[in-house]
Amino acid sequence: MELRAATVDIDLEGATLIAGILQGGGALPGSEEALEGVDPAAVEAAGFEGKTGQTLRLPHPDAAALILIGLGEEAGYETLRDASGDAARMVKTQAAVSLLGGSGIEGAVRAVVEGAMLGAYSYRDYKSDDEEQPSLETMHIVGADQSEVDGWFTVAEATNLARDWVNTPARDLSPEVFAGLIETVATAAGVSAEVWDRDRIEEEALGGLLGVAAGSDRDPRVVTLTYKPTDPKAHLALVGKGITFDSGGLSIKASNYMEEMKVDMSGAATVVAATVAIARLGLPVQVTCITPLTDNAIGGDATRPGDVLRPLDGPTIEVLNTDAEGRLILADGLGLARRHDPDLIVDVATLTGAARVALGDQIAAVFGSDSEVAARVLDAAGLAGEQFWEMPLFKKYRKSLDSNIADIKNISGSRYGGAIVAAVFLSEYAGEGPWAHIDIAGPAIARETSGDQVKGASGVGVRTLVELAKAMTEAD
Ligand code: BES
Ligand code: MN
Ligand code: ZN
Repeated sequence: MELRAATVDIDLEGATLIAGILQGGGALPGSEEALEGVDPAAVEAAGFEGKTGQTLRLPHPDAAALILIGLGEEAGYETLRDASGDAARMVKTQAAVSLLGGSGIEGAVRAVVEGAMLGAYSYRDYKSDDEEQPSLETMHIVGADQSEVDGWFTVAEATNLARDWVNTPARDLSPEVFAGLIETVATAAGVSAEVWDRDRIEEEALGGLLGVAAGSDRDPRVVTLTYKPTDPKAHLALVGKGITFDSGGLSIKASNYMEEMKVDMSGAATVVAATVAIARLGLPVQVTCITPLTDNAIGGDATRPGDVLRPLDGPTIEVLNTDAEGRLILADGLGLARRHDPDLIVDVATLTGAARVALGDQIAAVFGSDSEVAARVLDAAGLAGEQFWEMPLFKKYRKSLDSNIADIKNISGSRYGGAIVAAVFLSEYAGEGPWAHIDIAGPAIARETSGDQVKGASGVGVRTLVELAKAMTEAD
């Protein structure tokens, strides 16, 4: 499917509109001409005032239909993005579509592209009906620079790639299969990929990852991606939590908490998708992307509460709760990242239910090794239109992780401040350099379909990491 958008101001009694035109085929109408077919009396009779979120479907002489979507009077980038998403969902079964509207808005091109691409997303691999699902392969916006359109398209496409992986049932996304998919996509984008199997992981002594993998019949993997442009301005290391299913291990989860745990590889999906997007955009930033991948299962040799693990570098870990497994594999992931001596390390993880309790389902928690690092991530999220909020890396909580027999234990034993305690644990492995930790346990799954969000995996963080990389190209 081809989606053509025109950014024009459509004035209807003072309100800005976005209009989607359903096209059965043939030439796409341009912007102004398309609106000539609109009968103002019909619009008025339907009570359509252009308020935010209002929609109206009208017959159109040259097309299957015209859909008007209200933007309200003070629409910004996010309103237009979400309207574009709503419009795309209303028209997505059509062969070709034009979107019109919002030219006066800063970031309008981005908003229309991103909203349409992300809003029209659906995951249908396991549906048996043959409902037609045209995929958006390209977009054109009348009057916009095509390379700008393509750029935003690339980032949205990567976000949908992350969504596909996270939506895939855990049965069909073992560490081995996931590593293979990552390798294929990365290589196609000009990113080199190195995959470690169990033997190699043992040789490299990744004791955290091996401890979590001990309970699963499916072998772990570590994938390292390297994107090295000529003359990079900076070096970014990304680490993503790749738990392909989190049963909790022997500290097993109650079944209602386990239902959605195929989501627990979201961090890995996000960092890989971001790396691929950065490479496709050709940004002059070197990226090293590391994803430790394993199930957290309950096989006969699963790690037991009280066992001690030896990660690659850093403190030995007494595992008192096998459900706090993300930090165990990230200890190794961060250790590996440090060895590449990057300018900044960022990890992304569905790490704690506590982050979700604190900030809810739509906001990611950000922790920085210092406030300047956190501010850089928050600025990037602001530019990306994603909701991130800083939480404190409060080092005094480190004491609650003192272990009787090892250097550190993996839980504090208190229900309070769980997201912070987890971040403090990670800081033991992140080294002395700039590091940020993003806990996406809340927003990894969208609870409802609206605007750019579609119920299911959200792809949160991809857009922010791309913005962060862009900002690093401007650093001196
Ligand atoms: N994968 C979970 C966190 C999670 C919760 C992700 C909800 C997405 C949605 C993580 O491994 C976990 O189980 N964390 C425990 C830590 C606790 C044992 C200290 C938790 O949050 O309960
Ligand atoms: Mn867990
Ligand atoms: Zn987990």
